Amino acid sequence: MSGLQVSVWRGGADGRLQRYEVPRYPSQTVLDVVTHIQRKLDPTLAYRYACRVGMCGSCAMTVNGVPRWTCRTHVDKVATHGRLELRPLRNLPVIRDLVTDMRTFFDKWERAGGHFEGASARTDEFAHVRPDSPARQAADAGIECIGCGVCYAACDVVSWNPDYLGPAALNRVWTLIADARDVKTVDRLRAVAGDAGCHACHTHTSCTERCPKHISPTASIAGLKRAVAKAALEGEF
Ligand code: SF4
Ligand code: SF4
Ligand code: FES
Repeated sequence: MSGLQVSVWRGGADGRLQRYEVPRYPSQTVLDVVTHIQRKLDPTLAYRYACRVGMCGSCAMTVNGVPRWTCRTHVDKVATHGRLELRPLRNLPVIRDLVTDMRTFFDKWERAGGHFEGASARTDEFAHVRPDSPARQAADAGIECIGCGVCYAACDVVSWNPDYLGPAALNRVWTLIADARDVKTVDRLRAVAGDAGCHACHTHTSCTERCPKHISPTASIAGLKRAVAKAALEGEF
């Protein structure tokens, strides 16, 4: 197998691409390529990863123009004519090389009300939520999010409107609204009803096409739009 020609973003926002040649082998992932560069060719290369098995969400980068989790992306599937171009995720400030500053991304989860709030005490009975109930199924459809930021990088509305809460935060809020044990539904709907909330989504579906966990933030956001409209009609705001 001939070698891979890899161009990697180096530096901050005003950085540049640097070329490396990396040996190719079967079942090689894009993260393996980056690790080879950092361990064998250039120890100053900055990148992020933790689990290497698609659990932690920290290894996302832009691969030949497309945001992807790199530990589960095989080179054979994405290399074009033996070439890879690796850049940091779009829509987030670059710290250095392939590392972005994820603070805005997670701050938006908080702004949207992305943490669970229940009313039960430790001594109460466990809540009984039927697995086949529509609400439970809506929550289950979005719950496996690993916070990788791929959908956020894929979303053009985030690029146009940096205030927009974005697909991951809105998906998270939808899972909480669908959670029968959560008690902050009205507050959450208020948090996502403004100009930077669910109504800013243009239903482009780039987030859904790219999500490595096969979640559909587009469907979750559509659910939020319906819930906000219903709450407004019922005078909840
Ligand atoms: S469906 Fe909405 S959130 Fe998803 S990429 Fe399109 S505009 Fe962004
Ligand atoms: S919804 Fe999908 S793409 Fe977006 S952060 Fe969660 S796992 Fe990643
Ligand atoms: S390294 Fe954890 S998801 Fe890729």
